[in-house]
Amino acid sequence: MHTRYSARRWLRFAVGVALMSMPVTPAWADGDPEIGKQVFKQNCSICHSPLPGKVIVGPPLFGVVGRPTTSVAGYNYSPANVAAHLIWTPTQLDKYIENPQKIVPGTKMTFPGLPGPGNAEKRANLIAYLSTLK
Ligand code: HEC
Repeated sequence: MHTRYSARRWLRFAVGVALMSMPVTPAWADGDPEIGKQVFKQNCSICHSPLPGKVIVGPPLFGVVGRPTTSVAGYNYSPANVAAHLIWTPTQLDKYIENPQKIVPGTKMTFPGLPGPGNAEKRANLIAYLSTLK
């Protein structure tokens, strides 16, 4: 029993290392924050403030890059968001903005997403902008 558990943990570790060392350049790495600011204004700012502490419909997105889900104290998150247990890394944000309901099923964020490869550049610019909110 004990050895089987260790082997599984070792495998998970090995897969993790392999994934981390993959030579991929993520799309968001070369995003333009100035263009991303416009994407934010057009798609997100009706519900999200870029400033700390300011709730509109959604939680403020100040400092969102790198923070865990459900970390704005006092914001009334949905049970779906509470149960998600994700870290908002650029990669995770990219997937979420592409299709919010797929990444956090049942989220109360009604925004349908910026789906597909056709919007990849938009998402990259947006995430570059979100990275400046700190
Ligand atoms: C119609 C309003 C609305 C729009 C538009 C909207 N959101 Fe949201 N967003 C929400 C709500 C409401 C939540 C809270 C979700 C929950 O608790 O299930 C949320 C949650 C989030 C979260 C999770 C925050 C956390 O602290 O866990 C992120 C990230 C996010 N939105 C990013 C965006 C981005 C980026 C855009 C623009 C592309 C956007 N949202 C557009 C309403 C919106």
